[in-house]
Amino acid sequence: DTMTEMTPVTDATAAATAPAKKAVPDAQTVTEVRHWTDRLFSFRCTRPASLRFRSGEFVMIGLMQTDPKSGKEKPLLRAYSIASPSWDEELEFYSIKVQDGPLTSRLQHIQPGDEIVLRPKPVGTLVHDALLPGKRIWFFATGTGFAPFASLLREPQTYEDYDEVIITHTCREAAELHYGAELIEGLKTDELLNEVIGEGFWKKIKYYPTTTREESPKMGRITDLMRSGEAFRDLGVDPINPDTDRAMICGNLAFNLELKAMLEEYGLEEGANSDPKQYVVEKAFLD
Ligand code: A2P
Repeated sequence: DTMTEMTPVTDATAAATAPAKKAVPDAQTVTEVRHWTDRLFSFRCTRPASLRFRSGEFVMIGLMQTDPKSGKEKPLLRAYSIASPSWDEELEFYSIKVQDGPLTSRLQHIQPGDEIVLRPKPVGTLVHDALLPGKRIWFFATGTGFAPFASLLREPQTYEDYDEVIITHTCREAAELHYGAELIEGLKTDELLNEVIGEGFWKKIKYYPTTTREESPKMGRITDLMRSGEAFRDLGVDPINPDTDRAMICGNLAFNLELKAMLEEYGLEEGANSDPKQYVVEKAFLD
């Protein structure tokens, strides 16, 4: 019908008759992006109504990309720890930017309003369920391995289950500590935690940030600082004891392996969801 084709259409009719935009599967909308350094950023997005997770778990997230062979749009996904606690209405993620990384070279450019793909199937071992009861919990992180602890530090159960919470974060440069430092400072005024756990709950937290390649108040790898005893002296705590201490590790592979071996020397054993013990470990995401 040529008449219809020639009839000028209003924007509204054009929108109604345009072919439906190909829907992104499992799409969530970005609500906030913060860049911390030229290598690190964090972002928040909407949370699927059906998504239930335990603080410390990870999900697969990513972006759509065109498959070079078939020309079809497919999701490119990577495992990301959820940095927000289980009670939060949004989700938060903390990511590295790798300039030639397949995902993060693009993900670092997301803006509020953009869509990302998020598979709503949370999994992971850095959960309270994988540990036996204890008095003190250690969170050991390097780099973006801080992410699951950003979730667990905002989780009331962490303070219900333990008398003392020690978070160590080792990074190359001082600016790489900012995301974690700001988050920990923010706990003091966290309404939910102050209400549920009690005012001053944050005094249970001992924060031990260290850098290895740039001057900062405390320099060195956490592994070396523990071996020499310096970390325990600085923190004013007893060395790790399998009767009272529990630990979670999240960082680069070499760090995870070295610290795991150290914890085993202290007498801690690795736990799992199905077999809770004294410590758990997970690799931080790298594009
Ligand atoms: P270093 O600068 O001495 O290598 P990356 O950015 O490479 O993932 O490293 C993050 C932090 O983890 C760096 O401060 C790095 O220190 C530290 N690190 C790397 N390997 C180990 C390890 N085996 N034990 C403790 N810390 C480590």
